[in-house]
Amino acid sequence: MKKSALVTGILGQDGPYLAKLLLEKDYKVYGLIRRYSNPTFSNLEYLGIQDQIEYVDGDMTDEASLINVIKSIRPEEVYNLAAQSFVGASWQQAKLTTEVNALGVLSLLNAIKFFSPTAKFYQASTSEMFGLSNDDGYQDENTPFHPRSPYGVAKVYAYWMTVNFRESYNMFAANGILFNHESPLRGIEFVTRKITDGIAKIKLGLAEDIHLGNLDPKRDWGFAGDYVEAMYLMLQQDDPDDYVVATGETHSVRDFVEAAFKAAGIEDYKQYVKIDPRYQRPAEVPHLRGRLDKVTKKLGWKPKVTFEELVKIMVDADIQRYKKKSM
Ligand code: NAP
Ligand code: GDD
Repeated sequence: MKKSALVTGILGQDGPYLAKLLLEKDYKVYGLIRRYSNPTFSNLEYLGIQDQIEYVDGDMTDEASLINVIKSIRPEEVYNLAAQSFVGASWQQAKLTTEVNALGVLSLLNAIKFFSPTAKFYQASTSEMFGLSNDDGYQDENTPFHPRSPYGVAKVYAYWMTVNFRESYNMFAANGILFNHESPLRGIEFVTRKITDGIAKIKLGLAEDIHLGNLDPKRDWGFAGDYVEAMYLMLQQDDPDDYVVATGETHSVRDFVEAAFKAAGIEDYKQYVKIDPRYQRPAEVPHLRGRLDKVTKKLGWKPKVTFEELVKIMVDADIQRYKKKSM
């Protein structure tokens, strides 16, 4: 019998990479999708796996739909990747962000507790929970949380609810505290993809500049394809636990801009970048850098793709996309 896994957030960035990994390991993969007038399967298509998933209907804000899904498929593993994941939008849509990212997780945990209590559960926690807390320049599993956005606040709730279900009901519930991870499948509003997409347009004469907010914040950026392996490994352990997943390196947004223009063969980037206050946030997370000792020691996980390689992969993919479109 094949092992079965339910992946929420299957149409996003991480969902397709994780689904591909699970399919390669011969899992039966169920993907949760919500009602949408015009859903886009483009990320699954990009990886060539759109026909290998069994889609199930549900919405993180509708508890009954989650109960129905869990009850009907009783998956052995549940990866909860669904979220309103754009930090910038979370000030404008704080309640929706809370309903999906916090209360939605409670609903899913309850559905599992009642209808598939032996399922192993993965919660997509985030370095945004650390926010202002900076310790010695690194954040790890013992760093206190100080979230800076409604998104971060909602994720802290979900983190602790996951720990609480583990401690209260003896469920296998694990948090992956993932630092920023990117890829050609990254949503277009996130800064890395906004930059690489903008550069591709500039390179091909389709745009003149890129409008960005604050270039000073530093992020620990890795490749999404590497990070889904850590998610999978967390659920293969005998005991549930919480893990930081990161590269251990940090770069500013400015560094990313510079490296991306360079990867596209454009040396003097400054003329193309316009600072636009519309993209600055009411409260910023200035510095993220993860310490990956635990995930390396306990799970044997390490990132494979370097910062420079990641930038190049994304720039090349966007240039190819626009070249194909214009053919
Ligand atoms: P993403 O591309 O934004 O994907 C999120 C997915 O969640 C989308 O497929 C979206 O569906 C789905 N979703 C949103 N609201 C929903 C709802 N009410 N019911 C059901 N599904 C819903 O995010 P990602 O980059 O893949 O990240 C995956 C998870 O990891 C998220 O929880 C994110 O917060 C977390 N995380 C990400 C990073 C990172 O750097 N990427 C780092 C740490 C943690 P639609 O396609 O229908 O909109
Ligand atoms: N999006 C965006 N657009 N960000 C900009 C811009 C811009 O024009 N200009 C500067 N930035 C800065 C943001 O202020 C932030 O400091 C940094 O670029 C990264 O922004 P995002 O790419 O939107 O990602 P994020 O770090 O806020 O959140 C991502 O990573 C988290 C993990 O730390 C998301 O994937 C979250 O879902 C994830 O939890």
